[in-house]
Amino acid sequence: WKTLDDVALAGKTVLLRVDINVPMEAGRVTDATRIEKIVPTVEDIIARGGKPVLLAHFDRPKGKIVPEMSLRHVQPALAAALSRKVVFGEDCIGAPAQAAIAAAELGDVVLLENTRFHAGEEKNDPALAADLAALGDIYVNDAFSAAHRAHASTAGIAHLLPAAAGRLMEAELKALDAALGTPVRPVVAVVGGAKVSTKLDLLGNLVTKVDHLVIGGGMANTFLVAQGVEVGKSLAERDMADTAREILGKAKAAGCTIHLPVDVVVAREFKAGAASETVAATACPADAMILDAGPATVAALTAVFEASKTLIWNGPLGAFEITPFDAATNAAAKVAAALTRAGKLVSVAGGGDTVAALNAAGAAADFTFISTAGGAFLEWMEGKELPGVSALMQ
Ligand code: 3PG
Repeated sequence: WKTLDDVALAGKTVLLRVDINVPMEAGRVTDATRIEKIVPTVEDIIARGGKPVLLAHFDRPKGKIVPEMSLRHVQPALAAALSRKVVFGEDCIGAPAQAAIAAAELGDVVLLENTRFHAGEEKNDPALAADLAALGDIYVNDAFSAAHRAHASTAGIAHLLPAAAGRLMEAELKALDAALGTPVRPVVAVVGGAKVSTKLDLLGNLVTKVDHLVIGGGMANTFLVAQGVEVGKSLAERDMADTAREILGKAKAAGCTIHLPVDVVVAREFKAGAASETVAATACPADAMILDAGPATVAALTAVFEASKTLIWNGPLGAFEITPFDAATNAAAKVAAALTRAGKLVSVAGGGDTVAALNAAGAAADFTFISTAGGAFLEWMEGKELPGVSALMQ
């Protein structure tokens, strides 16, 4: 794929696909991370003499015009992050889009209305892709976090114009390649979350790629059950025990060591500050549930992290949203952060919950790379092709 360095931008109208699908409450942006992350690309385009025209989706309006899902609500936060005038186009194609582009002067930024207001967006309709492409000279995709969608503005359009990756896309792809593509070994992956069933493809792919796989969260309980361990009232998918055993077998054949909790924090109720105790992973009382990994598990993980050169992390180790069940996630995150700071580990993390957990632990800033992506990060870790990335390859 090409980058901004490979395309001439002077005097060009640059259609820049971004992901500014940011969380909002009462019409205000509550986390502007995704907006801040596209600033370098927008600035680079302007510095090279191009006029950036932002294409983006917001939420899931399903091909209808839903006023609450207008990108107009994101315009003030975008203007603030860029310290530039942002001209808004009432539609992402046709006369309203053309008028906004014409009204923008050099140094201004154009933001066009939600691409998903058109049904053709999610269908990757060639007619919509052509209408979008007609607005500009060059297509730049900076929306890695939407690259798992084969939509008109992420895939179709890339075949109609000279196409390149933006700076954020470039950084995401480089970081992910360093973590799983051509990593420095040994590689350790941490996978947490509630269910094995939603992460089957992920686990199946990772055991063939990494040297150590740490399984945490609710899904670890399913693996314990698969090994004949009683887990009391813990969240566990008992019908997935065979599948979990298959994954264990596949890991063994591939030379990947799986790490399950050796001790666990259990409680009788799932609420903040609930009375809890630490027991061996094989000794969960029948009336209790496992809500976190214990300190012996954290010590074991610390040793694995110390012996590794690359870490990729998706999913918390326990019920991190409720104290004290965030302890293992916090402690492991701090170890990874310290090793990264000391130059001993390349650490990459992604996924909404994961990033929230690492932020809460105060560890995110030390990580080598934190992806802005949720679903796309997961699909990439699953070894799937991302249409938005492959469209840049031709
Ligand atoms: C995201 O928030 O992960 C991306 O913006 C993609 O959104 P989607 O899941 O609605 O396609």
